[in-house]
Amino acid sequence: MPQSSRVQKAVFPVAGLGTRFLPATKASPKEMLPIVDKPLIQYAVEEAYAAGIRHMIFVTGRSKRAIEDHFDTAYELEAELEAAGKDELLALVRSVQPSDMDCAFVRQPRSLGLGHAVLCAEPLVGREPFAVLLADDLMVGPPGGAPVLAQMMSAFRQQGRSVIAVQEVPADQVHRYGIVAGESAGGPLIRIERIVEKPKAADAPSRMGVAGRYILTPGVFEEIRQQPRGVGGEIQLTDGIARLLGKEAVYAYQYSGKRYDCGSKEGFLEATVELALQHPQVGASFREYLRGLEL
Ligand code: UTP
Repeated sequence: MPQSSRVQKAVFPVAGLGTRFLPATKASPKEMLPIVDKPLIQYAVEEAYAAGIRHMIFVTGRSKRAIEDHFDTAYELEAELEAAGKDELLALVRSVQPSDMDCAFVRQPRSLGLGHAVLCAEPLVGREPFAVLLADDLMVGPPGGAPVLAQMMSAFRQQGRSVIAVQEVPADQVHRYGIVAGESAGGPLIRIERIVEKPKAADAPSRMGVAGRYILTPGVFEEIRQQPRGVGGEIQLTDGIARLLGKEAVYAYQYSGKRYDCGSKEGFLEATVELALQHPQVGASFREYLRGLEL
């Protein structure tokens, strides 16, 4: 029988070292890097909120204080803006944490891998299905369509089983992804038969790469606890999901929309340019500026 279909909590693993962005990430979190005027983590939290989730759980590490501060009340700033009558800015600052949303923080003492980070959230998640969002994957839904996690929520409500976002990736990039293979389960769903972390191109069972959005059943915690270390000596979430497959169905979901890999410099720059072009304040003038560049 499908288990409870209510997903009320989202986990944001933000304890990674962000080495690809050094020195920017030496003392400040990668997830606080802004795309135009909003930090990456805020895009992810807004996506979870838009999918109906109100309990946000951050798995943090050293040098990540800025994330806690970002989702807390900024008394001095708010008082200054209020006194200056800057109502629009005040509303903007307050909108970061809507009154019906709560945030909890748990530490991952060492960066032992994404699976380990998710396991650190277990005491706060409990025995419920939950979402996992990797903020360095910035996901933009199709124009006028639902955001990616909201699309996945519909699939989870139907199946009552774990749902993982996937997209087709070029053959020369499969070694950077978790790769899934399985049988079509209708529409955008694939019932996963195999999932492997960062395979060599020759060993990859398909070109369906996992993007940083998951809805998982709580059974995954036990599987992560039991598993040995995987690729790179890390406790991989992919390996926990591979074990879960032996116990219950797990689905891949081919989402509609676009993913920017903002954990890499190229993806970060692409997101910056494309979102700047769409920005209501600066979009038009930025487009003019780009047109004038000699490329
Ligand atoms: P990445 O491997 O992309 O992030 O992990 P990283 O390790 O921070 O970056 P690089 O590769 O050194 O540049 C994907 C996500 O998992 C989180 C990261 O914060 C990121 O959001 N993560 C990773 C953890 O929370 N803990 C870990 O031990 C590893």
